[in-house]
Amino acid sequence: MTDQTGFETAFQMDTSAIKVGAGATREVGADMARLGCKRVLVLTDSRLAELEPVAVAMTALRGAGVEAELFAGVRVEPTDASFAEAIGVATEGRFDGFVAVGGGSTIDTAKAANLYSTHPAPLLTYVNPPVGEGVPVPGPLKPLVAIPTTAGTGSETTGVAIFDLEAMHAKTGIAHRALRPALGIVDPDNTRMLPPMVAACSGLDVLSHALESYTALPYHKRPAPPSPALRPAYQGANPVSDVWAAEAIRMLAANLERAVDDPSDAEARGQMLLASAFAGIGFGNAGVHLPHGMSYPVSGMVRSFVPAGYPPERPLVPHGMSVILNAPAVFRWTAQADPARHLEAARLLGAETRGAGPGDAGEILAGELIRIMRRVGMPSGLTAVGFTEADIPALVAGTLPQHRVTKLSPRPADAEDLEALFRRAMRSW
Ligand SMILES: NC(=O)c1ccc[n+]([C@@H]2O[C@H](COP(=O)([O-])OP(=O)(O)OC[C@H]3O[C@@H](n4cnc5c(N)ncnc54)[C@H](O)[C@@H]3O)[C@@H](O)[C@H]2O)c1
Repeated sequence: MTDQTGFETAFQMDTSAIKVGAGATREVGADMARLGCKRVLVLTDSRLAELEPVAVAMTALRGAGVEAELFAGVRVEPTDASFAEAIGVATEGRFDGFVAVGGGSTIDTAKAANLYSTHPAPLLTYVNPPVGEGVPVPGPLKPLVAIPTTAGTGSETTGVAIFDLEAMHAKTGIAHRALRPALGIVDPDNTRMLPPMVAACSGLDVLSHALESYTALPYHKRPAPPSPALRPAYQGANPVSDVWAAEAIRMLAANLERAVDDPSDAEARGQMLLASAFAGIGFGNAGVHLPHGMSYPVSGMVRSFVPAGYPPERPLVPHGMSVILNAPAVFRWTAQADPARHLEAARLLGAETRGAGPGDAGEILAGELIRIMRRVGMPSGLTAVGFTEADIPALVAGTLPQHRVTKLSPRPADAEDLEALFRRAMRSW
């Protein structure tokens, strides 16, 4: 729908069904059987393949009479090549359903395996424009049940799959409602073994999802789509996504540090996993903006950084880290678009905002973010993960095509603005 000015006048909320509870993974066999699946592909990465969440899921599937084949070849921070490998296995196996047990890397790989084995096409066909062709998914997919083991990407609730397009040295993605899992099983037993650095990075991803969707361009300031079928999933901030985002920020403020410090704190771990799903429901419908858009070349251009807690075989800047390193610079700059919202986000995070005026909003929110980043062991800015000012032109070039998210910035950012933002993101404190 459009009003006379050509702006959007409607938004639509969609999410996966979610089941929440300690031990709920043991129900995945019954869930797949109820969804009509007799033969499923279970996807995971090589570390998780050795851990309890995968063992519990396999036992539950087989116990319910569902034939389950395990694919443990998911790459942490997937690429076009690693997606292709999973798609090949899915296509050859002619499965009637999929189960993903892992973090965002696994869940996104399962979405791609489901999509391209059900509706075969060259990889760029469904990828977001202008990088890909952005062809809408032609029909329904097979049932996918997503069991997150990080808290997290919220990928169990969203219709988004992100991968690193190696030729472009930046991440990009596929976004369509049909990619949403049929069910997300949010089971805090599955995050018990999470290394502290993974808990910190994925927790800061939750925080940025919530902050970005809360401060995104409002849906009614976006141009209306030519037809309702072309309304994007990332629609801009709206009154329903605001509820999920604000609650996720509040839950994160109360639980992130506890969950990182002490994996045996079951309450904090459970709240973080729930906050991850809440933030997923928020950003899955509202979208994210510059911290994510700027993170995609940061991940794609990594040279030698190898973080603790992640597979040591190759350099990587974990997704949540690549996002949060840009966030203080971005929110300082976007605050003027809606100071009240930026102040409210800072207040929900625990900052003192009494007596603050509109001109203080960016600094207060950035300051609160930096306090949390330091507290959970993040490096201080892009220089600390190997970037220099000489990389800025390439970082800007990798951000500019990320229209799906950059166009939702509450303050439009051109190449010059991005250059200044990357310069300020080089050092956080
Ligand atoms: N689809 C979406 O909506 C969405 C949103 C945000 C991020 N992402 C994508 O998700 C990916 C990042 O996912 P992530 O942060 O969840 O991490 P991940 O899946 O990349 O996993 C990180 C590491 O933690 C390990 N790990 C995960 N769970 C564990 C557990 N319970 N115990 C021990 N080790 C565990 C993994 O084996 C891996 O080595 C990126 O590719 C990012 O772009 C997708």
